[in-house]
Amino acid sequence: MRQSFDLFFASSNDHKYHEAKRILNNFGIDLSFFKCVLEEIQSNSLNDIAIKKAKDAFHECKKPVIIEDDGLFIESLNGFPGPYSSFVFTTIGNEGILNLLKKNRNAKFVSIITYCDKNSLRSFVGNLDGTISNSKQGNGWGYDPIFIPIKMKKTFAEISNKNELSHRYKALKKFSSWYLDK
Ligand code: IMP
Repeated sequence: MRQSFDLFFASSNDHKYHEAKRILNNFGIDLSFFKCVLEEIQSNSLNDIAIKKAKDAFHECKKPVIIEDDGLFIESLNGFPGPYSSFVFTTIGNEGILNLLKKNRNAKFVSIITYCDKNSLRSFVGNLDGTISNSKQGNGWGYDPIFIPIKMKKTFAEISNKNELSHRYKALKKFSSWYLDK
């Protein structure tokens, strides 16, 4: 295991941290939690949001740090809520999303992991296609009860292998190969 008292995950979201820690452990990287609230700028670009968050996180934490920014992009809503997923979750929530959808339920989860230290600033993207369920299924966090990953019949909230296929897993896998080579 690459000892990383020097790699931190900056977020206010315990769920994201626990998933990221488990995923990175499987790649031989240890991860610590820097729990903090990072300002989320309004932008149509997840990457711009992630870069700003990563720079702020490094400024606060003063150690090599990763942050994550996610978006749920729904095809029939032209990619909404996308970069506004966090705001939409706290306003209309899963019920609100379900009420907006009709026949076409295709969607995509995107994760951007951005690493920042005093020399590097790098982003890694993970995409996962899927569909939005007809009703809430299971008791997971965030959009987990309504997102069904491609080739699955159950939502993220109902499956046991989320951390082996999620958008977060895909972005962290790319990050790991780069980080372990660094
Ligand atoms: P954020 O802006 O990166 O915090 O994420 C956007 C929204 O997507 C938030 O409401 C998160 O709770 C939600 N979200 C991100 N990743 C996941 C996931 O793996 N499962 C369910 N919801 C998620």
